[in-house]
Amino acid sequence: MNLKDLQNAAERLGEHPQDHGWRQFFRLVARDLSDPSSDLSSILERCALRQPAHSPGHLINLFGIALKSVAPEDFALLGAPASEVARAALLGRMAREHADGIATIVEQRRNSFTGARRFLVPQVILSACLPRHSRSGLCFADLGTGLGIMPKQINNEKLFTAFSADLPWPGGVPAYREAPIRRALAVDRGPFPDLHWVRECYGSSEYYDSLFGELVFALDAVDVNGATTETCEVDLLDTAVLRQFLHRWPIHAANLSYVLYEIAPDRRTQIINTLRDNLRPPGLIIVTEPRAELTRQGCETLVYCDYRTDPYRLCTVSDGHFIGEVTALEDYDEFTARYPIAFQPS
Ligand SMILES: C[S@@+](CC[C@H](N)C(=O)[O-])C[C@H]1O[C@@H](n2cnc3c(N)ncnc32)[C@H](O)[C@@H]1O
Repeated sequence: MNLKDLQNAAERLGEHPQDHGWRQFFRLVARDLSDPSSDLSSILERCALRQPAHSPGHLINLFGIALKSVAPEDFALLGAPASEVARAALLGRMAREHADGIATIVEQRRNSFTGARRFLVPQVILSACLPRHSRSGLCFADLGTGLGIMPKQINNEKLFTAFSADLPWPGGVPAYREAPIRRALAVDRGPFPDLHWVRECYGSSEYYDSLFGELVFALDAVDVNGATTETCEVDLLDTAVLRQFLHRWPIHAANLSYVLYEIAPDRRTQIINTLRDNLRPPGLIIVTEPRAELTRQGCETLVYCDYRTDPYRLCTVSDGHFIGEVTALEDYDEFTARYPIAFQPS
């Protein structure tokens, strides 16, 4: 990854159709990275050297979160109505003054934004696909879980009912159906993200304040429900550790939501292959990733099954925060013919 890759990523992020407080920042970064001798170029090169397995888009994203975290007041001024030259000068000064703090965060953390509604699509898929006859029950792992709430939300009817009407599918609003899961594991790299870090990963805007409110509401709801899950620190890039983890439990189904886009493209296939080779039957993997590396609105969901070489290209979700609609992709009909989805009466 070189400076040009980072500049291209910042430019593309600055063109995202939705603007919830980050767009101006990414444009400013792209502008500054055109000068290889700028303070910003120097700190980002340093970060890229320390984290070669990051995708360029994620490194820019994480840099922004780190900067907001170490200097929140100055960060707010970057979006103030000042000239672009003045804001670029401020960004340069911030990069210079906080270089060590930023590098430390980039080394230890990732963008762990955790969405309160992202369990909705996996709930429908898991309840449609997983066989109900398994005597001992199945083990499910949410890989790159962020805060770790998603495994607790699975099979929580109250939360499904609270959110599902805002995300209709082609056949209507899915009916709640329990998935036959005995144990659900929340998996992320260490240090495991906590609520404070997840809050840092939300943008600064009323829109994000409201989404964070939903996350807190969901956290309360899973507490009351008393769902128990286990938390495991695993670096998905460490193939030997991942393989060992998959066998130890053992795991039958896995979910990856907004995880692979953070990782350099050449390492993503290795993770999927390790999962495919080491999951127990039915070897279900649900992968939801932002469209075009986070530069287009919404995301796509693919489903891998152990009997099929290619994943089912199932659907798109119109908004990455899972409010909007689910639209069929080319394998939707084939998938739903094999695994029927129940819908609420309209
Ligand atoms: C953007 S968050 C998504 C959180 C959650 N899945 C969701 O959709 O709301 C991505 C998460 O993937 C995790 N992640 C990225 N690379 C990882 C790796 N190599 N091993 C384990 N977790 C990783 C990050 O730490 C982060 O918490």
